[in-house]
Amino acid sequence: MRKPLIVANWKMHGTQTFVRRFIAALEEGKDALRQPEAEARVVICPPFPYLLSLVEQLGTGLGAKVLVGAQDVNAQKDGAFTGEVSASMLSDCNAHYVIVGHSERRHLCAESDLLVAQKFAAAQIAGLTPILCVGETLRQREQGLTLEVIAKQLQSVAELPGVDMTRQLVVAYEPVWAIGSGKTATPQQAQEVHHFIREQLGEAGSRIQLLYGGSVKSTNAKSLFAEIDIDGALVGGASLEAQEFLNICRLAGATCSVG
Ligand code: 13P
Repeated sequence: MRKPLIVANWKMHGTQTFVRRFIAALEEGKDALRQPEAEARVVICPPFPYLLSLVEQLGTGLGAKVLVGAQDVNAQKDGAFTGEVSASMLSDCNAHYVIVGHSERRHLCAESDLLVAQKFAAAQIAGLTPILCVGETLRQREQGLTLEVIAKQLQSVAELPGVDMTRQLVVAYEPVWAIGSGKTATPQQAQEVHHFIREQLGEAGSRIQLLYGGSVKSTNAKSLFAEIDIDGALVGGASLEAQEFLNICRLAGATCSVG
């Protein structure tokens, strides 16, 4: 059975003080982190410099409910790659998840489908759960290419030797036009793509958590989570405000139709 999952992507935001205050707010609102009827798992992906301190501050108390992930990883095992961070380093720092293929990296850092697939494989090899982001641009949607684009993004990962699409992975559907724009896909638009992704994943599809991302807020989360194939959210801007984030977590625990 799939459990609801809410992932905060802080992107390039935050300070040490922000992290401390966020943890204090989580501690106060921790009722939101575990619902009796449907336990929502929560993951926070901070910028690299705050990752270890976040793990340490979550400790064993909150750390049982909130796991830590990274926003990116290098595809290589180790070596002379100045400025880069390997999957085994993330694992060594007790990160459990890593986002790969975020559209900001695909577009701003020119990451190819192949590189995303290599990062995905590196994450799995190191025992991390990759959160694979897929999504179409507005132009692609208007041209009727949405499902074709998503299928290609999934296929390029699945085809890479060493990747195992039957275990330990999350897929996040993030339509590029909905990210940071205030425009959210309608629940029906999101559900259509999520259903398609589940089909593309074959037999394992019914077990894999599928998240929606793109301007998720507490005001639109409930109707998205009510869709049968939406298991939670990858939250950007709204994850920077602790109360708003906790409200989204509460809604996931109460609303996600776990299949
Ligand atoms: P926003 O929630 O700010 O639109 O960002 C979505 C996102 O890119 C999460 O990875």
